[in-house]
Amino acid sequence: MNYLVANWKSFKSLDKSLGWLETFKGMGKTDVEVVVCPPFPYLRLMNEKVDEWRLPFSLGVQDISPFPFGAYTGAIAAEMVKDWVKYAIVGHSERRRYFHETHQEVANKVDMCLESEIIPIVCVDEPYATQQVAAIPQKSLKKCLIAYEPLDAIGTGAPDDPEHAKEVIKRIRLKSDNEVPVLYGGSVTSANISEFVNDEVSDGALVGGASMRADEWRMMIEVFRR
Ligand code: PGA
Repeated sequence: MNYLVANWKSFKSLDKSLGWLETFKGMGKTDVEVVVCPPFPYLRLMNEKVDEWRLPFSLGVQDISPFPFGAYTGAIAAEMVKDWVKYAIVGHSERRRYFHETHQEVANKVDMCLESEIIPIVCVDEPYATQQVAAIPQKSLKKCLIAYEPLDAIGTGAPDDPEHAKEVIKRIRLKSDNEVPVLYGGSVTSANISEFVNDEVSDGALVGGASMRADEWRMMIEVFRR
């Protein structure tokens, strides 16, 4: 299966998010697992709208607490969102960088997701990809998706060289006994997605900036039509 994951980060108002979603009304089945990760406060309403408008999208949360329910002020436990999301992005490089998340915390987040039957999308980057993957126990890793996102490709308009992405993704696949889907992320657009998502390179794309424009998103979904 291929995956197309939208990461809206801390962008978009609620109105704009619902407006984006509404443009896909009547879209019908897709040939790719489409996952939309809006800001946390919109999840519940977006989940209702996805059902009401019968959209072929799954929702994901952009981060999750490394702890269960408890005295952890401000934290969003996996149990709180499990009815609204199928996926959770964990260990995005912006979380690792600005919120100082460690490999171990990311591994704990993976555990929390799995306990609540949420599929973790674990983001890794160079040059630490191998260690970041190794921090997650094999048994858990096999229930995850991994997204390789080179730091200097994120939000820059300068994606990785597909040949280089292919090498790194191959290395990551080996670490997980070739059992885990590996996505590519970093400046993916409708114009370059097919260089990264094909049998040679990866199992899908994690898309930031370009996912926020409905027309771009529609074109990316179309790339997967058989
Ligand atoms: P970008 O972001 O597509 O805007 O480069 C990707 C990401 O941060 O997941």
